[in-house]
Amino acid sequence: MSNMIEFRDVEKRYPDGTVAVRSLSLDVAEGQTTVFVGPSGCGKTTSLRMINRMIEPTAGRISIDGIDAATLAKAELRRGIGYVIQNAGLFPHRTVAQNIATVPRLNGVPAAKARDRAMQLLELVGLPAEFAGRYPSQLSGGQQQRVGVARALAAEPRVILMDEPFSALDPVVRAELQEEFSRLGPELGTTIVFVTHDIDEAIRLGDRIAVFEPGGVLAQYAAPEELLEAPASEFVAQFVGRDRGYRALSFETFDVDAFDALGSLDLVAVGDRDPGLAGRWSGLVDAAGAFLGWIDDGRGDAASIRSRAGAVRPGDSMRSAMDAVLTSPTARAAVLGDGDRVLGTIGLAELAEAGVGGQRGGAGARP
Ligand SMILES: Nc1ncnc2c1ncn2[C@@H]1O[C@H](COP(=O)(O)OP(=O)(O)OP(=O)(O)O)[C@@H](O)[C@H]1O
Ligand SMILES: [Mg+2]
Repeated sequence: MSNMIEFRDVEKRYPDGTVAVRSLSLDVAEGQTTVFVGPSGCGKTTSLRMINRMIEPTAGRISIDGIDAATLAKAELRRGIGYVIQNAGLFPHRTVAQNIATVPRLNGVPAAKARDRAMQLLELVGLPAEFAGRYPSQLSGGQQQRVGVARALAAEPRVILMDEPFSALDPVVRAELQEEFSRLGPELGTTIVFVTHDIDEAIRLGDRIAVFEPGGVLAQYAAPEELLEAPASEFVAQFVGRDRGYRALSFETFDVDAFDALGSLDLVAVGDRDPGLAGRWSGLVDAAGAFLGWIDDGRGDAASIRSRAGAVRPGDSMRSAMDAVLTSPTARAAVLGDGDRVLGTIGLAELAEAGVGGQRGGAGARP
């Protein structure tokens, strides 16, 4: 089996000195699905985006099908690489069929042919033909995500990069998409690199899994079975172990009363501005106090929202609470009450104390 993508001693150091990825070397085999998994901030997205040069490495080399990516024109490089993100990133003013046909049309495929292909792809991703004329806002989150996948496939790329494509979906829709997706990759023979923070998803989808640890270090790169049976370090053992029990958390309900005290969170209302909060994470709320997302510039403006993930609501499962902590930009989830009003924050330590993974002695404990 030949390698489609090779990382050799790749490093990314951002201008502010942050080393997001440290001396990364790994091979992605052609036609396989490789998953990058790890906690927030460990360099997964940076590693993924260096493949199509949305981010340029500061050292090392990445080659695609044997060719150094740095020597290719970006447009040419990206023509062969599809990209799917969370919330699909569909064009809101174009219909589903137009969205799917975007790249083929740009590449000069005649309209009728591009449309036929779009209809085939709709079917492939499990959507009814009637959806072709709808606009993205007329679809559910899971349906939009399917269109996002169809759009990436339309260009017939040899490589597809997917960054947490299913993270914003509820667990049922997510499991459904994972199920279908795990058939799609092998069927099409496309090489897929998939980013997630969820080890269950990684195990379900990956032929090979790269576990990253904080600091942008590759902790282990192995097939799923090997990862579970022979974790290479304490970190991998904890990450894999914790999340294995984590499946059971789907059945436990998050109960804010189980927490002695919540952490505090600075809030900025839409239309207000708090210069003292520039450079610090705070919550943006609407006039009624409902949480809208995370900001880090103290500006009460929806355009400032850096992330909408990282909030837990009454009735959510413990697993969603854990997800919220892992996807929050602050490593603490905002705890919301009625009307999405912010009650405070929680982190991993409190979740562990409240009994997440209780039988195993707390989150992060060895199983
Ligand atoms: N433009 C940037 N300038 C400086 N630091 C950055 C920049 N982009 C990302 N970083 C930092 O690089 C590190 C890796 O970020 P990256 O987005 O790759 O993480 P990730 O593993 O995808 O995290 P998440 O699970 O939260 O998406 C983080 O510490 C992040 O703060
Ligand atoms: Mg990321």
